[in-house]
Amino acid sequence: MSESSKPLIVVAGATSKQGRSVATSLLESGRFRVRALTRDAGSAQARSLAGLGAEIAEVPLALGHQRELVDAFRSAEGAFLMTPPIAPPSTEEFPLGRQLADAAVEAGVIHVVFSALENVDERSSGTKYAPHFTDKALIAEYIRTLPIAHTFIMLSFFYTNALEYYPPRIDGDTVLMPFYLPEDFRAPFVDPLTATGPAALEVFSNPDTYRGACLPVVGDVISPAEMVEEFSRVTGLKAEYRSAYSREDLLTYFPALGENPLLVDETLGMVQYAVDLGYFRDDRDTTWSRRIDPNTLSWEQFLRKTDWHGQPVTFGH
Ligand SMILES: NC(=O)c1ccc[n+]([C@@H]2O[C@H](COP(=O)([O-])OP(=O)(O)OC[C@H]3O[C@@H](n4cnc5c(N)ncnc54)[C@H](OP(=O)(O)O)[C@@H]3O)[C@@H](O)[C@H]2O)c1
Repeated sequence: MSESSKPLIVVAGATSKQGRSVATSLLESGRFRVRALTRDAGSAQARSLAGLGAEIAEVPLALGHQRELVDAFRSAEGAFLMTPPIAPPSTEEFPLGRQLADAAVEAGVIHVVFSALENVDERSSGTKYAPHFTDKALIAEYIRTLPIAHTFIMLSFFYTNALEYYPPRIDGDTVLMPFYLPEDFRAPFVDPLTATGPAALEVFSNPDTYRGACLPVVGDVISPAEMVEEFSRVTGLKAEYRSAYSREDLLTYFPALGENPLLVDETLGMVQYAVDLGYFRDDRDTTWSRRIDPNTLSWEQFLRKTDWHGQPVTFGH
């Protein structure tokens, strides 16, 4: 296949953990061209994607850039859409998602894959506050009304949260691992850096099969106690679970979160939602991502692959 005859897929948030996984999988398949959207073409991640063959387009994932987005989506057959982390009190996530989808429609994109989550408001009858879930569900609902083929993937809790956002504390020879979930509660987790790409590649390779589908991406269903035990076994380090499940415990381990009380509310709302109602709706097929990608990393495989020993890690751009 000549380079110019390969379908072009635009990847929004291409330097993010999810986006770079998607861009890399598409390019490595040899079957697609990729246009990678970023705020900064000079960043290490953007340059690394360019090195893999991606075309880089500088467009921010922010409101007010509709024209640039339409231009960036032009001549693309597909687009991977995602929203970056947006903390309350900002309410930009829904309008941003709508802007991305509208731009894809206007540019004539045929199929979009949006990284969505469940509607927590609806599932909890308004009792749990997790706008970064509900806003993604509302974006998905909006996309369903548009004249564009669409598929939704839904990522589990990221393994990387424990490395990036909620890193352990070292106490003498023991790694104390604070989790925002109860010790024995099993939840779906995934490595966004290696699992998002294969899911998106599968959809873009078989768009008719997945038209309208909403597909969880799951690496492991595992409790914090089991994660700590695996960590200890793989690294040989002593490790213990610590609760960051209540407000008090969360702020004990991560006091900086206290600067944004709404973000604390949202974090607690999200985990209470997951514990009370389940992270995914019961009717979702949580085995799909492993079926189409048997190499999806379990927590143990993630630990072995990354050689993580409990230190804070940034996945910067
Ligand atoms: N953490 C979890 O457990 C979890 C689970 C499921 C879903 N999610 C969702 O995943 C999304 C984040 O994905 P990710 O972790 O892969 O992203 P990420 O690694 O944090 O990267 C975000 C990217 O968005 C771009 N960006 C554009 N405008 C931005 C802005 N105003 N602030 C920050 N970044 C901006 C940045 O690229 P440039 O600098 O190149 O422009 C950056 O590479 C969020 O919507 C989150 O709710 C998270």
